[in-house]
Amino acid sequence: MNINSRIVSFFIICIIVSCGSEKNPEWVTFSKQIAPIIYKNCTSCHRPGESGPFSLISYKDIASRGKLLKFVTQSRFMPPWPADAEYVHFMDEKVLSKDEIDLIALWVDGGCALGDSTKIPSPPVFPKGSQLGKPDLVIKFRDVYKIKGNGEDQFLLMRVPYEIPIDTFITTIEVVPDNRKLLHHVNAQLLSYDFDKKKDVFKGNVVINLEDVPDKMQAYEAIGLANDDGVSFPTMTQSVTNYLPGVTPPIYPDGIGGFKMVRKGALFLKDIHYGPSRVDTTDQTSFNVFFAKCAPKRPTQEFQMGTFGVSPTVPRLIIPPDTIMTFTSEYKLPIDISILTINPHMHLLGKSFWAYAVTLQGDTIPLIKIKKWDFRWQYFYTFKKMIKIPKGATIHSVGVYDNTRHNPNNPFSPPRLVAERGGSMRTSDEMFQFIITYLPYESGDELISLEKK
Ligand code: HEC
Repeated sequence: MNINSRIVSFFIICIIVSCGSEKNPEWVTFSKQIAPIIYKNCTSCHRPGESGPFSLISYKDIASRGKLLKFVTQSRFMPPWPADAEYVHFMDEKVLSKDEIDLIALWVDGGCALGDSTKIPSPPVFPKGSQLGKPDLVIKFRDVYKIKGNGEDQFLLMRVPYEIPIDTFITTIEVVPDNRKLLHHVNAQLLSYDFDKKKDVFKGNVVINLEDVPDKMQAYEAIGLANDDGVSFPTMTQSVTNYLPGVTPPIYPDGIGGFKMVRKGALFLKDIHYGPSRVDTTDQTSFNVFFAKCAPKRPTQEFQMGTFGVSPTVPRLIIPPDTIMTFTSEYKLPIDISILTINPHMHLLGKSFWAYAVTLQGDTIPLIKIKKWDFRWQYFYTFKKMIKIPKGATIHSVGVYDNTRHNPNNPFSPPRLVAERGGSMRTSDEMFQFIITYLPYESGDELISLEKK
């Protein structure tokens, strides 16, 4: 080989290497790599009538927002999943891999190539109405709720009364938002009234804006939660359903979960959150109820740490202006438990959240880490398999709050003292909660997969 042909072959090799190299994005196209990533991870929320502010379906929808998509995926702002997937994996995790994020960036930097337009995969099809099948019963807000077009987030409490002919057992309640654009989250408990203790469950006021009530008991009174005597309360079953955009309720394997629904009752929606709207609009969300064949064998139980919980917040939850403060709550388990689902809860000053358990032998069991708290995405995180925490272990939860002007969600400018106040659930007051859904442990629990079949 003479010197010239050596130079030529060197250049040929260089060209081949650079074409195949990760630096050259021409091989990344919409039809081949990008459409599948977006369809799998984004379109469930970014389509007409869903919560995402625009659709991500057509090439034009997606390519025209290339730079924004690169930004929101690199910063991990989207898909919304505050939990650190490197610490603990949960069911139905909404997380892009590093490779997927890099592909989106390469594609955008290379000018958003379409590729072979005949090979674009078809966008996903989502079932209309129920995600779970045909419900046995549908319960609706008693009244249409009027959402004011004042451009502000709204937080409500609501009672959704129902009456059924006989007591029954149910497996799941699915929230079907009427106003999908605005309904951002719902957490519901079930109220079971003794037959003779409340004559008419449909009577009275059923809704109140959380900003209008100074504390929990007054809020309960305002929406007529109590029995007719005004002082005694119906049985409350915790967390019977929760809603966030893009989330279907967990259905635990046969024999796990489920609860009783008595003839006269109500869903008690605490924490209804509507996003801001500039125009007056309405919502009348409904609930699909699925009956069970028999009584639940292992009904789930729940406890919470911190605010209203089994263990206090230390120090007391008082956050002076211009400070960043850390609070903890610790609870020593009296029995062996199997954890199914967890929910960290803070309001606007939340900065980070971390929970783990330490056994008597000193082993650490990771539960969840949220490095950057986002009050809009308060998921109920379900583990892929139940997590056994043995008797005597201590569950630690750690919440950091940012009450400085650098926190863009700070409700006050300039910052003011913010605290947990007399049971107030107002967003401008703070809460620190770690809610745990569990079963008393049975051997083999940690092997049972909770993932949907
Ligand atoms: C679970 C529902 C959901 C999923 C999944 C989701 N989004 Fe979003 N997205 C939203 C909502 C809701 C907003 C409005 C902002 C908010 O509420 O956080 C939003 C906002 C955005 C914005 C606007 C940000 C801004 O500040 O203007 C972009 C861009 C975006 N999403 C891209 C994506 C991409 C890309 C994916 C997939 C990788 C994705 N989203 C997945 C619900 C979702």
